Amino acid sequence: MLASTNITWHNSKVTKEDRQKQKNHKSPVIWFTGLSGSGKSTVSVELEKALYEHGAHAYRLDGDNVRHGLNKNLGFSPEDRKENIRRIGEVAKLMNDAGLITLTAFISPYREDRDQVRELLEDGEFIEVFVKCSVEECEKRDPKGLYQKARAGEIKGFTGIDAPYEEPKNPEVVVETDKMELHESVEAIMNYLKEKQYI
Ligand code: PPS
Repeated sequence: MLASTNITWHNSKVTKEDRQKQKNHKSPVIWFTGLSGSGKSTVSVELEKALYEHGAHAYRLDGDNVRHGLNKNLGFSPEDRKENIRRIGEVAKLMNDAGLITLTAFISPYREDRDQVRELLEDGEFIEVFVKCSVEECEKRDPKGLYQKARAGEIKGFTGIDAPYEEPKNPEVVVETDKMELHESVEAIMNYLKEKQYI
């Protein structure tokens, strides 16, 4: 539903393809999804660095950071999580048009919400990276002490405890952070990007 009326789309004289050519790489959205504590932020931070060192223009959007600003009015109800992901998807699409490689690190627990972002982009521009790690291991890591709070009933609707996480069915890349070293996860994604000639 479009709330605004009497609005017109203005095209630029510089296209997305022009910008990609200038930067010498494509501008996919690399969408990390996984449980809290699975390693989304850790892997995406390292990947951003690897891409920078490769000479690519990449930028990372991260759950906690975005919730401090753009999405600070949103909580963790299913509706708010949906709106969170919708807004991030729109931001990622702008960055995709700007010719940047976007890395997003959000739990994004609902398959439908992630698929909606995929739909926003052209074929091949959405790279879903499943950061796979068992709840048991995430709970053991508990870097922010949130699992402990969720178990104590101090946080309601915590993903993996009393709120769902829907695993991707056909992610482009899976990194298993309870089995792989950090550098192996980064290499797996870099190799994918090189093989498919994104970079
Ligand atoms: S979502 O589901 O995609 O909208 O969540 P996201 O924007 O990625 O935010 C997840 C971070 O918020 C903290 N947090 C919670 N996570 C899950 N469930 C509940 N109820 C919750 N409350 C706060 C937590 O620090 C998440 O960060 P990560 O980096 O995933 O651990």
